[in-house]
Amino acid sequence: MHLSVEGVSLVYPTSRGPLTALQQLSFGVEPGEFVSVLGPSGCGKSTLLKLVTGLLRPADGRLALAGRTIDGPRADVGIVFQQPTLLPWKRVIDNVLVPIRARGCSVAEHHDKAMGLLELVGLSAFARHYPQELSGGMQQRVGIARALLAEPNLLLMDEPFAALDAMTRESMMDELLHIWQRSGKTVLFITHSIPEAVYLSDRVLVMSPRPGRIVDSVPIDLPRPRSVETMAAARFGELCNELRARFRSLPAAPGEPGHA
Ligand SMILES: Nc1ncnc2c1ncn2[C@@H]1O[C@H](COP(=O)(O)OP(=O)(O)O)[C@@H](O)[C@H]1O
Ligand SMILES: [Mg+2]
Repeated sequence: MHLSVEGVSLVYPTSRGPLTALQQLSFGVEPGEFVSVLGPSGCGKSTLLKLVTGLLRPADGRLALAGRTIDGPRADVGIVFQQPTLLPWKRVIDNVLVPIRARGCSVAEHHDKAMGLLELVGLSAFARHYPQELSGGMQQRVGIARALLAEPNLLLMDEPFAALDAMTRESMMDELLHIWQRSGKTVLFITHSIPEAVYLSDRVLVMSPRPGRIVDSVPIDLPRPRSVETMAAARFGELCNELRARFRSLPAAPGEPGHA
């Protein structure tokens, strides 16, 4: 599903005055494309994601999905957060079904599909376990299954692997590419990790320090399917270095409001 973000600005009111989080930010994502937004902490990545989900409204500009202005949360957009945010008193399968129940849809009708998604993320044997019995990586996979249940056309991911250890993160990246390739979803992936963005993406959008803008769009011309060998390839290192250089050339972030 095509996503377009045109001239979007967002200002937070704070006790120390207005804080411009995003200023005149624009980009597009093609249907089926895997695009990462790469930027330093505090540049406005999560704010951008909340705008795309319709949880926040822009002060200026326009966001649209398949040509329709985003004016509130939509059922055809799935979200995965940095923390898995599972309900500890619900079994894994019931956690996957939470959004269905919240929308008043039939849980019974979606049960088989939820089991199928647990299989897709390699957790069918854990359907009746509780979240605290699972590792961090497994909990994050439950979050991905939950986001996919409503068959979203667009999957939004906000640093979903940032809280995981390095080895788990690598296997989760492969898992995600596998799911993406099998499902054909459009993915907008937020990260502050250059190698993660390069490994996963068709294209990397470079975000400036706050107020956030898209300052570059870098196509990632690495062949797919990607694997551990991809990371060892010379081209992988070149792309990471190009992005690092791009960040070094950006101005530093301003101070907090009242001090800027
Ligand atoms: N609800 C809010 N109220 C006021 N300021 C906020 C709020 N949420 C985020 N900010 C500020 O907006 C800026 C961007 O935040 P965020 O989008 O979370 O950045 P990122 O996800 O890139 O780390 C930061 O300076 C942050 O402190
Ligand atoms: Mg964030």
